[in-house]
Amino acid sequence: MTQKRIAIIGAGPSGMAALRAFESAEKAGAEVPEIVCYEKQGDWGGQWNYSWRTGIDQYGEPVHSSMYRNLWSNGPKEALEFAEYTFDEHFGRPISSYPPREVLWDYIDGRVRQSEAKSKVRFATAVRWVQFHEDTETFTVTVEDLRSKQTTAATFDHVIVATGHFSFPNVPDVPGIETFPGTLHHAHDFRGAEKLADKRVLLIGASYSAEDIGVQAYKMGARSVTMSYRSRPQGYDWPEGMEELPGIQEIQGQTVHFSNGEVREFDAIVLCTGYLHKYPFLPTELALESPNNIYPDHLYRGVIWQKNPRLSYLGAQDQWFTFNMFDAQAWYVRDLILGRAELPSERERAEHMQSWRNRFMALETDADDVQFQADYIQDLIEATDYPMFDLDEVVKTFLDWKKDKKANILTYRDKQHRSVMTGTMAAKHHTRWLHELDDSLERYLGAPKEDEMRSRFEADDADEDIERLPLQERIQR
Ligand SMILES: Cc1cc2nc3c(=O)[nH]c(=O)nc-3n(C[C@H](O)[C@H](O)[C@H](O)COP(=O)(O)OP(=O)(O)OC[C@H]3O[C@@H](n4cnc5c(N)ncnc54)[C@H](O)[C@@H]3O)c2cc1C
Ligand SMILES: NC(=O)c1ccc[n+]([C@@H]2O[C@H](COP(=O)([O-])OP(=O)(O)OC[C@H]3O[C@@H](n4cnc5c(N)ncnc54)[C@H](OP(=O)(O)O)[C@@H]3O)[C@@H](O)[C@H]2O)c1
Repeated sequence: MTQKRIAIIGAGPSGMAALRAFESAEKAGAEVPEIVCYEKQGDWGGQWNYSWRTGIDQYGEPVHSSMYRNLWSNGPKEALEFAEYTFDEHFGRPISSYPPREVLWDYIDGRVRQSEAKSKVRFATAVRWVQFHEDTETFTVTVEDLRSKQTTAATFDHVIVATGHFSFPNVPDVPGIETFPGTLHHAHDFRGAEKLADKRVLLIGASYSAEDIGVQAYKMGARSVTMSYRSRPQGYDWPEGMEELPGIQEIQGQTVHFSNGEVREFDAIVLCTGYLHKYPFLPTELALESPNNIYPDHLYRGVIWQKNPRLSYLGAQDQWFTFNMFDAQAWYVRDLILGRAELPSERERAEHMQSWRNRFMALETDADDVQFQADYIQDLIEATDYPMFDLDEVVKTFLDWKKDKKANILTYRDKQHRSVMTGTMAAKHHTRWLHELDDSLERYLGAPKEDEMRSRFEADDADEDIERLPLQERIQR
């Protein structure tokens, strides 16, 4: 019997989870199929692999990441920790709960850095097309080597799509937006808030991008930050200089009319209107089409393409949990491919999906959402040998995080949480998030004598008040 061949498309955290899943089975003595992972960038890490090239690369290929220079984790790291490679193991000491991008990249890289996994990745290779052949039950995957400009095709028995879904911007039309003379872009193209200093900034959208780009702009000294919501406001206790307004009626040049009658002038607009599920390398019958939600339809157990179970998706859900959810998914897909888990019949799969979809449709609150995603992960882990962890405790961590944000959107990243994997309490970071202008790994892991920005302010206990003032005033004080 010939060896099975598996294609993994994308080497972000989801693709890396798939590589790790097969590697761990191999290390335990299992015979694993031949794996080829195609990654269009020059390194792995997906969104977390940010460089100055983010935007367009040296081959003219769009770069996938929507991250930006000063991005720090917006959820506690204790909620995304791998169950089989902990932060303690990687860093050798407790670190804070909300590390910057480069630190998290180092963590996901560290798990597989020493392994054979990297040799299975064809970097700078973009998947251009995937075709399924009913007769042979195989896929032809056509790829372009961006360096040599050579296009080649190869045959695979299974395809795992791990290309993420926060890269293709959703760009709605806004009445009169074509008359706006200031800077205008989508969050995908936002690279840092320095240029927003002293600007009146409008963010359209009311989710994580609006929230984080909003506080980044505030941090970097924007004159004002206005966030416009469509369905509901985020509802945080924003500091002076930040506000939320409802939908936009019309833009007339720099002047924006909101649906509640308010009028404001702006210098810059960032569309924080989310992303599209888009898989330009897949024919319609294989391509997932879904709004951004935590239980997209047509995926059995959130991963197996119902119409063709030889195709699977990792990380296709909206994400409370991230890295450890991708692991649970990857372990399950691996076990199906290795024949360790049995794929139920089409009807049983449909019933299973329907029961989870029904539960999903009945969710009302964010707390319901988090619990649902925790239960989903638990269901997957129970079917594999991925180490089980206390998911209910992680749900509590998420709820504490939400409380911290509600209490103060500018200081929640200064809080500490406890790891459910190791019991380790996070360290208090040397610098408060609002004062930290250097997000490098070196600075993060270094030990500056004190919070250097703080020395510009009077006293530790005055911080909370000072932080609620615009940057210029904070510095003048
Ligand atoms: C702005 C932003 C901030 C975020 N912040 C956080 C956070 O703080 N904490 C958190 O836990 N999560 C965060 N996330 C969520 C993020 O989606 C996950 O952490 C994670 O990166 C998802 O991993 P992935 O592998 O599924 O997708 P991605 O990270 O998007 O990786 C997909 C990979 O596929 C490759 N690829 C795409 N198309 C092709 C192709 N045709 N051929 C070959 N390769 C291809 C890409 O180059 C990329 O490397 C954030 C997301 C965004 C957009
Ligand atoms: N680490 C970080 O700090 C950080 C920063 C940014 C992003 N992220 C991550 O990035 C991912 C994506 O977040 P996101 O905020 O970009 O997308 P998102 O969560 O999908 O939210 C999209 C937002 O756009 C709004 N919207 C969509 N179409 C609109 C329209 N036509 N008019 C007005 N508003 C519209 C939506 O409003 P409705 O609610 O009405 O649908 C929603 O508020 C998340 O996983 C998040 O965690 C993390």
